[in-house]
Amino acid sequence: MDVTLRTLREGDLDAYLALREHSFGYPAGDDVLSELRGRMPATVGAFDPAGRLVASAARPLFETFVAGRRQPLLGIAAVQTLLPARRRGVARTLLARLLSDGREEGIGWSLLYPFDPRFYDRLGWQSLPTGVRLAMDMAWLERPRPVDAWPVTSDLRNALHETYQRCAAQWNFSNARTMGPWDVWSDMLPERGGRGAAYRVEDGYAVLRLRDGGGSGTTLDVIDAAWCSPGGRDEVLALLAAYAGQADRLEIEVPHDDALAWSLADWFTTPTRATRMVRVVDLAAALAPLVPIDDTRACTVRVRDALAPWNEGTWRITPGPERCAVASTSSTAEAVLDVRAVALLVGGAATPEAVLRAGLADGDRRALVTLASLAAGRTPFQSLNDRF
Ligand SMILES: CC(C)(COP(=O)(O)OP(=O)(O)OC[C@H]1O[C@@H](n2cnc3c(N)ncnc32)[C@H](O)[C@@H]1OP(=O)(O)O)[C@@H](O)C(=O)NCCC(=O)NCCS
Repeated sequence: MDVTLRTLREGDLDAYLALREHSFGYPAGDDVLSELRGRMPATVGAFDPAGRLVASAARPLFETFVAGRRQPLLGIAAVQTLLPARRRGVARTLLARLLSDGREEGIGWSLLYPFDPRFYDRLGWQSLPTGVRLAMDMAWLERPRPVDAWPVTSDLRNALHETYQRCAAQWNFSNARTMGPWDVWSDMLPERGGRGAAYRVEDGYAVLRLRDGGGSGTTLDVIDAAWCSPGGRDEVLALLAAYAGQADRLEIEVPHDDALAWSLADWFTTPTRATRMVRVVDLAAALAPLVPIDDTRACTVRVRDALAPWNEGTWRITPGPERCAVASTSSTAEAVLDVRAVALLVGGAATPEAVLRAGLADGDRRALVTLASLAAGRTPFQSLNDRF
């Protein structure tokens, strides 16, 4: 279908709301309208030859950590096509446009939460394992002990952001919480009388709420928590254990390679259906800031990327002490890989062997080891709070 693409303006709000009515809907209220109006400049629309808005996609911008470095992140949200315009390639055209705009802005990575991962798989986004949500009996925590904890009753950002950033830098694709359309910290602030609390401990923190489940007892919900060292982790877990007697159950989200997940995931995991999908927007911009922690050899790889053809071709990738050099080359590639394999390897989500087994790459595994080294020992994790 022939469409013209452009950024939406305030005057497009009514057409946008009509489009949204049958895809996501929206709650009533002047504040909602004003928020949606504010999103117009961050939304790209597709117009048919008669000038009707037939599809749109929003592109909120964030910052994320990859291998400990803060990088811009192209968020993609609210992708929608009017029913009669569906299955004609309109969403695909829109997504290609968002990627090429992102590339012009120097953005290396994109992240979205899919309605169905299979739709975005074919377009080069890759689902990554990130957090594990545990719903467990309080008795499975360590025995309660005294813990030094300082309550935070206002301005969570001011009190916790520095600790959060140090912890978040330990993971790949965690949200840096520096920019975005809303403030995660103010959304998490416990309401007075709502049985919520936030505590800072040495090298960690937790934002908590008690929830009465009627006959099934009281649950301690960990709204947000982070620890930056083994000591910080012990203190946060001791803080949770201090609720023994007051709460029967605990619900907490932890990285999939946290020790709690190793021990307890098979017993207590609850599904979140909050799949996070990551994509390379621009290969050179994505890899350039990354520095491996061990010495790593250069590699030559061929990348396949149908939706973002500027990533296609053969690349010489040379990790260095300051930056990773990425240069187009006419040399023979040691391995060929789908752009999704780049997200898996550099994100620290899968080993070269797993990527080869999945058929997302072919060739010399040592070239893939170089890409995996760029994860600098990190694996992906992003809190559900940062979902957009
Ligand atoms: C999902 C949606 C945006 C797709 O829009 P569209 O303009 O029909 O998509 P396209 O025609 O560009 O499809 C691109 C590819 O995805 C496939 N596809 C389209 N809709 C799909 C669906 N619902 N599930 C799986 N695959 C789908 C197409 O077949 C096409 O694949 P191909 O290139 O191999 O043929 C549209 O169905 C919609 O608005 N749905 C309701 C809102 C929604 O759920 N949005 C997603 C938010 S994350």
